[in-house]
Amino acid sequence: MEVVIDRSETLAALAADAIEALVTRRSDAVLGLATGSTPSAVYDELVRRHAEEGLSFAGVRGFLLDEYVGLPEGHPEAYRTVIERELVSRLDLPTESVLGPDGRAEDLAAACTGYEQAIADAGGIDLQILGIGTDGHVAFNEPGSSLASRTRIKTLTEQTRRDNARFFDDEVDAVPQHVLTQGLGTIMAARHLVLLAMGRSKAEAVHQLVEGPISAMWPATILQMHPHVTVLVDGGAASRLQ
Ligand code: F6R
Repeated sequence: MEVVIDRSETLAALAADAIEALVTRRSDAVLGLATGSTPSAVYDELVRRHAEEGLSFAGVRGFLLDEYVGLPEGHPEAYRTVIERELVSRLDLPTESVLGPDGRAEDLAAACTGYEQAIADAGGIDLQILGIGTDGHVAFNEPGSSLASRTRIKTLTEQTRRDNARFFDDEVDAVPQHVLTQGLGTIMAARHLVLLAMGRSKAEAVHQLVEGPISAMWPATILQMHPHVTVLVDGGAASRLQ
């Protein structure tokens, strides 16, 4: 596990560098895309490189980490809508090249199995962008998640619903209770993991991720077992590292 502590602009550029190197080497690369506020600066930097330097994503495919269950199609906070708005529509990346778990499916279990199959059919994920929750979740694998889990339905913790209420007019009750999420086993199968964390609210989760014992109670700690992980943290998020 490589840990880089720097200013947030530098970290966003480093994550964009890793993605640029990959898509330059392999025009049909498969990216794993996180949502939430942390990766926005990385996506802005990719958009800039596309507009100003001609970096192309035309042959790239993307897979979202997770999706809320039950939000109507086109809801501004559905992750499929968020990634379209923040990234896909601003690049030469075809909309149909990016998939997410279908949180509106009638048969959610079948949607999860189908999503795993789609990732496998694409040859697996080359580079997975990750954030981390204050409770140590990655994707929406909340504390207590199986360390070998695959894409499935999960219930969000109250903590995560409170953390995400800022996207829903500060109304905790408006945050869906259920999500479909790639499992920790799914994430561990990606070939390179790039996790970003900013701010003191992430300090305990980052401390556990880097220095804690591997435990389902801090799901991100399973990343310690991955052969190629890059952790990009600012001073606040690094403030509890020994
Ligand atoms: C989002 C996701 C979540 C977030 C995490 C941090 O697709 O999978 O694990 O990465 O909740 O969210 P932010 O970046 O908003 O602090």
